[in-house]
Parts: sequence; structure tokens; C-alpha cells
Amino acid sequence: MGLKQIDFGSAEYELMVELRKQILRTPLGLSFSDEDLATEKNEILIASFDDEEILGCCVLSPCNNNKIRLRQMAVKDDIQGKGIGASIISFAESVAVDKGFDFIIMHARDTAIGFYEKFGYKVMGDVFYEVNLPHHLMEKKLI
Ligand SMILES: CC(C)(COP(=O)(O)OP(=O)(O)OC[C@H]1O[C@@H](n2cnc3c(N)ncnc32)[C@H](O)[C@@H]1OP(=O)(O)O)[C@@H](O)C(=O)NCCC(=O)NCCS
Repeated sequence: MGLKQIDFGSAEYELMVELRKQILRTPLGLSFSDEDLATEKNEILIASFDDEEILGCCVLSPCNNNKIRLRQMAVKDDIQGKGIGASIISFAESVAVDKGFDFIIMHARDTAIGFYEKFGYKVMGDVFYEVNLPHHLMEKKLI
């Protein structure tokens, strides 16, 4: 298994978008528009691969000079619960630290809060809705 940053528009990126559709959008009857994806040109795209098979991914989107948002966290459904999400979070945190960010935040689906709590993320504030699902803002200070 290998974790790496991938390039927007690459064949690996196409696999990542397909995985995100499968795990995060299709079950909700949603997809991505070209506009949704266009902003990702300037974001940090992270994925885990086993040879040419994509296992999981996330996107890091800078908010300002010291805060970066982790989003689009997804692991292939038949291999969830085997530590892949944990390895992606750890890699994403290293990338964020290397790039000089002090905090990672995320809009966590309520069903994933327990996952992020395992890595020291804390719920901040009240429930809000995105893609028709309840979410909470979570945050962790790095280092
Ligand atoms: C949430 C998700 C990314 C976690 O990845 P994963 O590879 O399944 O998780 P891991 O196997 O690395 O789990 C790490 C730890 O978190 C726990 N965990 C995993 N998913 C959890 C969840 N939804 N709630 C609570 N704890 C969870 C595991 O039990 C494990 O605990 P342990 O270290 O005590 O054994 C993955 O299950 C997924 O893609 N879910 C569907 C999409 C989703 O909800 N994405 C997040 C949107 S905010």
C-alpha cells in the first residue's frame, strides 16, 4: 500500500473522483459538477493505492495561512475498518505540517465523528447540514 499526493486531471485523479462518487455521492443520489471539481486544481489531493487500485483518499483545502480543511475522506467500501482511513489521516497531517499549517478542520458527517475523535479531533459548535446530512465542525491543533 502506498500513500501519495496526486495531480489534478491525472489518471489517478480520475480514479479518486470515481471512488468519491461511489462512497460519498451516489448513495445520496448526488454527483459532482465540473464546477465542484474545478477548484481542486489548487488543492492537495491525497490517495492510497495498492498497485493501480485506489483504496482511499482525501482532499486538503487551505482556508488561510494556518488552517487547512480536510474533506472528501473516503475508503473503498469493502475494505473499510482495516486501518486505511487511519493511514490517510496520518499522511494528510504530515503533509499539512510540512506545508506550515497549524490546524486541520473538517465538516464531519455525524456518522464519522467517532472516527475523527480517535485521532484527536474535537467537535466545535452546533450541527449543520450538508448534502442533506447532519455534520459538525471538527478541529485539531497539529504538533
Ligand atoms: C470514515 C472512513 C473514512 C474511515 O476509514 P476506515 O479505513 O474505515 O477506518 P480505519 O479502519 O482506519 O479506522 C480507524 C479507527 O476508527 C474507527 N472507526 C472507523 N470508522 C468509524 C466510524 N464511522 N465511527 C467511529 N469509529 C470509526 C475504527 O474502528 C478504528 O478504531 P480502532 O483504531 O480503535 O480499531 C470510512 O469508513 C469511510 O469511507 N466511510 C464512508 C464515507 C465517510 O463517512 N467519510 C467521512 C465523511 S466526513
